[in-house]
Amino acid sequence: MSGPFPPGFLWGTATSAHQIEGNNTNSDWWAFEHSAHPLIREPSGDAADSYHRWGEDMDLLAAAGFTDYRFSIEWARIEPAPGEFSAAHIDYYRRMVAGALARGLRPLVTLHHFTHPLWFAERGGWVGDAAVDLFVRYVEAAAPILAEGVQHVCTINEPNIVSLFAAIREQRLPSVDLRDITPDPGTTDALIEAHHAATVALKARNSTLDVGWSIACLNVVADAGADDAATDYARTRQTIFTEAAQGDDWVGVQAYTRTRIGLVDGRPVVVKPGSDVERTLTGWEYYPRAVGDAIREVRRTAVDVPIIVTENGIATADDLRRIDYTKGALASVHDAMQDGADVRGYFHWSLLDNYEWGSYGPTFGLVSVDRLTFARFPKPSLAWLGALAPAAHHDPKEDSSDGP
Ligand code: BGC
Repeated sequence: MSGPFPPGFLWGTATSAHQIEGNNTNSDWWAFEHSAHPLIREPSGDAADSYHRWGEDMDLLAAAGFTDYRFSIEWARIEPAPGEFSAAHIDYYRRMVAGALARGLRPLVTLHHFTHPLWFAERGGWVGDAAVDLFVRYVEAAAPILAEGVQHVCTINEPNIVSLFAAIREQRLPSVDLRDITPDPGTTDALIEAHHAATVALKARNSTLDVGWSIACLNVVADAGADDAATDYARTRQTIFTEAAQGDDWVGVQAYTRTRIGLVDGRPVVVKPGSDVERTLTGWEYYPRAVGDAIREVRRTAVDVPIIVTENGIATADDLRRIDYTKGALASVHDAMQDGADVRGYFHWSLLDNYEWGSYGPTFGLVSVDRLTFARFPKPSLAWLGALAPAAHHDPKEDSSDGP
């Protein structure tokens, strides 16, 4: 790495409820996992059983030196039937927030990470009647979870990917590669409206919250002659969502690799990385600078909006490659900051090997999980990355400075 990050910089790992909790049986994803779609190689089942073991997860994180934890709360558990809210699950997630704080971890809470209650999906998802109002009603009901000790809230994780999933599912497309799909325009509009409405609702309750959303940054690069095609490709899949972050308290950058757009017979295509290129377990090009490139691009689109790297990581069975990738990634973050980017934090994806939306194959974790006993086994990368934590955030002298 090429330099330290400033005191107060958020230093954490990220997870999402459906991918680690297990048995999220009331969600649309659970139903999808049992629908024999080619995207699904196996169902999520017990996942990492973090529903019962979140304390153990947070212990590992704090012991390694991290100061922050990004996790999501599950709409399908909080509102299992329309308008019926589970006080027990609201309390459950309140205890997670309190548990993080008790361990010295600042929680960044995501309200929506890809999954919906099944009833919401069945009434049309984001293009169903009053979808935005229903989301805001859920956000209002979940507000007690954010009432004490939560500073950063992410309304919707990767809305651009939610819109692609909607296209796959609403239009019953058989493709298993999201890069070939066009987002669902109605879903895109509704998600942007939902983000803005949820932000207003959250701020009305607590104006000091820092609210944003996180974008899947595709790092679209054009082959010769394909500039216009690349711009068009990025527009509906990313740019429109980044523009919607203008005026927010922060915007989340999530980047893993880059996407090449070329032309075949004058027609735009995604050029998949070939065997001459190192590829990760997701088939993506090994490209550590992805996150730095993404920061630079987001900064040009959502001008003056502080950036948090809310996800960055690599699916690999070789933990040394993970460390190498992350070194390169952090150097690229640091370089972007040297060039003036206002970056406030870095969250590595992911704390645990988890359910990668259809399969347990791609392992992104700093910690592996025995799929039968749920025992956690930290990989060397956990201690390595935790030890790079910037100076402690709770020094009152630092807190009173004018720093970022
Ligand atoms: C998502 C995660 C996912 C990760 C790796 C992001 O698209 O937010 O849920 O596991 O990238 O694919």
